[in-house]
Amino acid sequence: MEFNNPAGNNLFDKAKVVGQPIRRLEGPLKVTGRAAYAYERHDVASGQVYGYPVGSAIAKGRITGIDTSAAEAAPGVIGIVTTLEHDPIEGVFDYDPVRHFGGNEVLHYHQAIAVVVAETFEQARAAANLLKVDYARDEGANFTLSSTPEAAGETDPDPAQSTGDFDAAFASAAVTLDETYTTPAESHSMMEPHATIAAWDGDRVTLWTSNQMIEWGRQSFAKAFGVPADNVRVDCPYLGGGFGAKLFVRSDAVLAGLAARKVGRPVKVTLPRPMIANNTTHRGETIQRIRLAADAQGRLTAIGHHNATNALTEAGGEDATLPTVAFYAAANRQVVNAPAHMNLPNSNAMRAPGETAGLMAFEIAMDEMAAKCGMDPVAFRIANDTQVDPGNPDVPFSDRHFVECLERGAAAFGWSNRNTAPGATRDGAWLIGHGVAGAYRPAPVMTSGARVALTPDGRLRVESDMTDIGTGSYTVMGQTAAEVLGLPFEAVSVELGDSAYPVSAGSGGQWGAASATAGVYAACVALREAIAERLGVQEGDLTFEDGMVRHGNTSTPLGEVGGGEEIVGEDSIEFGSFRSDDALVATFGAHFVEVGVHAYTGEIRVRRMLAVADSGRILNPMTARSQMIGAMTMGVGGALMEELAVDERYGFFVNHDLAGYEVPVHLDIPEQEVIFLETTDPYSTPLKAKGVGELGLCGVAAALANAVTNATGVRVRDYPVTLDKIIDGLPSA
Ligand code: MOS
Repeated sequence: MEFNNPAGNNLFDKAKVVGQPIRRLEGPLKVTGRAAYAYERHDVASGQVYGYPVGSAIAKGRITGIDTSAAEAAPGVIGIVTTLEHDPIEGVFDYDPVRHFGGNEVLHYHQAIAVVVAETFEQARAAANLLKVDYARDEGANFTLSSTPEAAGETDPDPAQSTGDFDAAFASAAVTLDETYTTPAESHSMMEPHATIAAWDGDRVTLWTSNQMIEWGRQSFAKAFGVPADNVRVDCPYLGGGFGAKLFVRSDAVLAGLAARKVGRPVKVTLPRPMIANNTTHRGETIQRIRLAADAQGRLTAIGHHNATNALTEAGGEDATLPTVAFYAAANRQVVNAPAHMNLPNSNAMRAPGETAGLMAFEIAMDEMAAKCGMDPVAFRIANDTQVDPGNPDVPFSDRHFVECLERGAAAFGWSNRNTAPGATRDGAWLIGHGVAGAYRPAPVMTSGARVALTPDGRLRVESDMTDIGTGSYTVMGQTAAEVLGLPFEAVSVELGDSAYPVSAGSGGQWGAASATAGVYAACVALREAIAERLGVQEGDLTFEDGMVRHGNTSTPLGEVGGGEEIVGEDSIEFGSFRSDDALVATFGAHFVEVGVHAYTGEIRVRRMLAVADSGRILNPMTARSQMIGAMTMGVGGALMEELAVDERYGFFVNHDLAGYEVPVHLDIPEQEVIFLETTDPYSTPLKAKGVGELGLCGVAAALANAVTNATGVRVRDYPVTLDKIIDGLPSA
């Protein structure tokens, strides 16, 4: 099915199942431990053995030798694969410039250099410690972002946006701001680590793994193992989170596949938690210079944004300028992303890549600028809304309700009651503050397919290689199928994550739900056509309702149409270029946070959070809310805790486990509310839905940082906002 024009009125406008707060289809399996994650799939292949990975102990240099003799002689050891026995194995995609394994060159710390296979996990781990690796260590280049020419603004990359005359507008403006903000490197820290079981059958391989993008994975494995993609099966029905860490294949899967081929048995490999931060990817650190100019009425006339970030190669980096090009009005704009080549582990997509770090900085700058203009931060943002692409005013936003997000949120949060004087509200020993920030993220889509089968018992089975990373894909795809075939939700089953099924959008970039449900819709329309053909009528003459198909005065139970056989429909949704040529399709939100800052210790506590989201049709308000509050929780992590500390002498992330890398827990978040605007975006998909998962994170940290400033009068421009950065400036008691 081609989606080449904005959606008109359709069945989703009078939906009975889509839009309902239906509980997660796989929820009972999850909470009873029966939804097995990759490493736990003991039943998929017999004779599984354990591979334990070894990471490089240097950040840059060469391996001159690996002595495996002691490890080979250790109890239970079956085989060892070292990097020296393979040519370098690279990733498939330009935007994932990774070296999985192979060769003697070390590009970054904890790069995989060997895997030791043994009968038990403990034997494999013990033997891995017996490998003797000789290195020739190089000094490495640029472990410190702040000392790079990119951070100093001394390089001259092509601007992402250059509109009007920034310098002239900035020089002549009534009000200006010129500040630098920093965000640290961060680690995805999803609950389930990277893990894979690999088994070969001749030259065919199956990988039971944890991956957000099944088809990307299949292509990558084929290249890594040197076999045709048709020989690779990837299966991942459940993921315990991904956050971008599992968009691409990582070394667990490559090591499992190579080791399984070498030892002739199924091999399972998980990356130990302390290896993940340096072996895989992370969110890159950023240093962002933001310049804003406004007229005397508080309307922005110029926006400048320069972002420096680390990248192992030319690609990658955290492009914090992504939202800047489109979020707010201003005629004169100069936006530049400058990735610095460094020998740190490569950075790549993590939790709303670009927007997260960008809005952490930009939405503080907006707060500071509002103060300089003498305006309320909500009113200042409203005054600088745009309904068109500011860099290309002929292109409108397809459906943008940012102002309404701010207004609804301000009313629901009680914004007008806040004390605008910083550091002036006390609740016992706690200084109280309130902050706001805007949220913006594009609403991309991807081609997505599905197969639906109507079975003789009147049930519907949906099959797709779509993944569910904990977001609710099973549920919203099942709701869509039920809607289109006029069945109750209970009559639908959904099977996901297997490369044997039609290729879907996968989970990433908040495109998953919108794209995958549109793909299910396409497949269901194909099924309705197949049903019409069986009945010898036109599809348009049929009504699907209450488990029956009606035409004229005849009603047939759906299960009887096939005469004892399955009827199958399969199709993909293809999104036409009108979606990007004629409009900007994006999602919008506003975050409001109340914090308490301890007046004597500077301890920062979230007291309540509110998000308002404009994301088109909400497919399931329960799963959408869960995505939002999960994302808001990540925002608290980014604001207050998360930071990969770089050892700037040797080039690695020091706090590479969950003891030293802190993320929020339930006790950190007392109250979260979410309001969804009831919008529909006909430019997005036939369901008029967009994503919420990443929107929910965008801007959160800045709302918190702004609340801390309101509470204390101290402005922190260097994340995370920790007590040591505010304690000296706290108001005296
Ligand atoms: Mo997302 S960071 O595109 O999984």
